[in-house]
Amino acid sequence: MTEPARPVRPRRSVLAVPGSSPRMLAKAPGLGADEVFLDLEDAVAPDAKVAARANVIASLAAGDWTGKTVAVRVNDTSTGWAYRDVVDVVEAAGAHLDCVLLPKVQRPEQIAWLDLLLGQIEQAVGLPATGIGIEAQVEDARGLAAVDAIAAASDRLEALVFGPADFMASITMRSLVVGAQPPGYDIGDAYHYVLMRILVAARAHDLLAIDGPYLQLGDPDGLRQVAARSAALGYDGKWVVHPDQIDLVNETFTPSQSDYDHAERILAAYQHAISPGGGERGAVRLGPEMIDEASRKMAAVVAAKGRAAGLTRNPTPIPTPTPTPTAG
Ligand code: GLV
Ligand code: MG
Repeated sequence: MTEPARPVRPRRSVLAVPGSSPRMLAKAPGLGADEVFLDLEDAVAPDAKVAARANVIASLAAGDWTGKTVAVRVNDTSTGWAYRDVVDVVEAAGAHLDCVLLPKVQRPEQIAWLDLLLGQIEQAVGLPATGIGIEAQVEDARGLAAVDAIAAASDRLEALVFGPADFMASITMRSLVVGAQPPGYDIGDAYHYVLMRILVAARAHDLLAIDGPYLQLGDPDGLRQVAARSAALGYDGKWVVHPDQIDLVNETFTPSQSDYDHAERILAAYQHAISPGGGERGAVRLGPEMIDEASRKMAAVVAAKGRAAGLTRNPTPIPTPTPTPTAG
């Protein structure tokens, strides 16, 4: 992964808050989620859509969102609500907004539409150009088939987000439990392909990859299991749909202290090994393992995630690297 063009914002846990609920909107800034998105889409009933816009604007302006990534999920581009969602929210409260989350993205043109519209509004109301980012939800067969083109569609893109509920419906997966394995499929993870496809497209375009929700509330073991799977694959975070899910998800997407310490040790040892003082060696032995440039890259990922989560290194001494005859 090269350096991304846009700010990398924290997104281990991404809390969905219905725009139709002033009570939940008022509570959200005080919760521990890294990101909150205020929803105008599927959590809001059709007749409540217009009133929800006003709630969301008021909440963006009034809440103390310090330290959080803040997004609004607008309705998808096939609806008559989408353009007004963007225009009304960004005109009135764009200064408090980090990203617009566009659901049900199937084609790159939909991202290009949002990019242009955001640019016009930024210009009209005096917001910094390209200040507002885009998160794209990939949640059906068409979107997945076009995911590379979608990921390349705008420099505003910051993250690709998997939407399991819509996706399961789109491919007619035979299950009603969002995020759980479909009964009868017993030879692997039914989500592996889609998760990996989105992850590869995200990384190929220097974007974050975010897993969708687990809707079985009151099942922390199930949540832990699915969150740990996508965290292990390399995902940066996961949606949460209830405050009780936040801590568990934050914890799951934070490297363990020992992995973080290990990663920092590899970085320090490798840096020393390639320096003149360390003999300018590219492959060295660190305790029981051999480390080289590829190990450095892997360690850099874990270290970056740990630092972003506020971990600091245990002050254990770095073992002295020793020369090794082989390199991988
Ligand atoms: C989220 O939007 C989902 O469809 O799972
Ligand atoms: Mg959806």
